[in-house]
Formats: sequence, C-alpha cells, structure tokens
Amino acid sequence: MFNNSMGLFQNIFGKGKNADPANLATLITDLHSHLIPGVDDGVKNVEQSLELITAIHSLGFSKIITTPHVMSDTFRNTPEIILAGLADVKKAVKEAALPVTIEAAAEYYIDDHFAEKLKNKEVLTFAGNKILIELPFFNEPQNFLSVIFELTVAGYKPVLAHVERYTYWYHDFENYIKLKDRDVLFQMNIVSLCDEGSGHLKKMTEKLIDADMIDFIGSDAHSMQYIEKIKSVLTNRHLKKLVDSGRLLNHTL
Ligand SMILES: [Fe+2]
Repeated sequence: MFNNSMGLFQNIFGKGKNADPANLATLITDLHSHLIPGVDDGVKNVEQSLELITAIHSLGFSKIITTPHVMSDTFRNTPEIILAGLADVKKAVKEAALPVTIEAAAEYYIDDHFAEKLKNKEVLTFAGNKILIELPFFNEPQNFLSVIFELTVAGYKPVLAHVERYTYWYHDFENYIKLKDRDVLFQMNIVSLCDEGSGHLKKMTEKLIDADMIDFIGSDAHSMQYIEKIKSVLTNRHLKKLVDSGRLLNHTL
C-alpha cells in the first residue's frame, strides 16, 4: 500500500523512474555544433575545442558532425577553411586519445550569396547530401520555399537547423507542415527545452516533439555553457520521449 501511494506520489511529482536521464548514447551522433577554432562564434582555440568535445562525449555521444556558421556578412567560411580547421581538431582529438569521431559540415545561413555557393557546389554536406541550413530569427526570407525547391532539385536533402527557434512561424503550425510536405528534415536544439524567457520557445519545442516532427537533435554547442544547459534538461519528459521514440535519425549519420 505504501509502495503504491509512493508510486502515485512519484508520478505526480515527476520523480522516481522519471528522474532517469535521457539516454543520448543511443543516438550516437551529435548533429550541430561550433567546434572549429576561430572560424565563427564558437570555440576560439583547440584547447576549448577539446574541452567541449570531451563534454559532448560525456553526454553520451561518440560521433560529432560539427557545423561552423557560413554567413556572407560575418563568417565567410569556405569548405577549405573548415576542413583545414577540422584537421587541427582531429589531430588534437587523436593526441588526447578521445574515443570520438569528428567530422565537419557547415550551417548555411540562407542569404543572397547562398544560391551562388550552391551553384558552384561550394558547400559541405553530410551523410548522403544532407545540408544544414538556418534562417534569420526575425523574418522569413521571402524566397525560402524556392530555396528549398532549388536544393531538392539539385539533389540535396535540406535539414533545417533549430527549427523551433523561428518565432515568425509560431502563430500558425501549418508553416511546419508545409515544410514537412516538402521533405525538409528538422533539427532541434536540446537547449531549447530550457525554461528561459517567455517560455514560448520551450512550448514550441514540445509541440514539435509531440507532433513527431523532429528528425535530429543536436547540442549546437558553442561553449561549455551549452553543456550545462543540456545537463539541466536531461530528465525533461519531452526529451526522454523523443529519444525513446526511436524516430530520431542521429544514429544514421
Ligand atoms: Fe548553430
């Protein structure tokens, strides 16, 4: 009797079994991070990169596809720049004997110069022509659906970075359905489940999880602060539901 009422108590207050953390190790690969030193707003040197890779590994991930920003205004990274940085990071990972595989792609900001990069095939993809793209946070580029069309016709599989962060879509869930209908894959940041600010971001993240729309999750780690935030949501009910669902594709990367 005591055990039963205790169980009820634990269920109501989210303790007991629910306090187990999400098992990120089953996902194998962390998709989306900023671990190439000095090329964007992520890590500044190889030491910071190693520290962050060690932390991502300790979360359970054994492979990392890191994705430096590419933006024509600020981060003018080319595949050559990113791959040269990757070589340095790989060397450091090997010397430190970290059991982590690290690869690089990029996070392409959809701006006027993106079409040109695409035309010249100056893009870094991952796992069978998948390409990570991001949008401005305050207004949707008018040509976004045609960019998706162009990408698909050219044989790329667009993966939209932190899909839950674009507030201009919040008023109408149809915006997400429209993208799914066009085979856009959705990546979600684990940190978006942190309860900060107005709570709208967390709510939309949960809604997208409940709608079975998330295909990949990622740390989007720029610094150790991201790791602390991720640790704070490891027992989050929605994160566990998503990881346990088996629908995430991280392990296929
Ligand atoms: Fe990012």
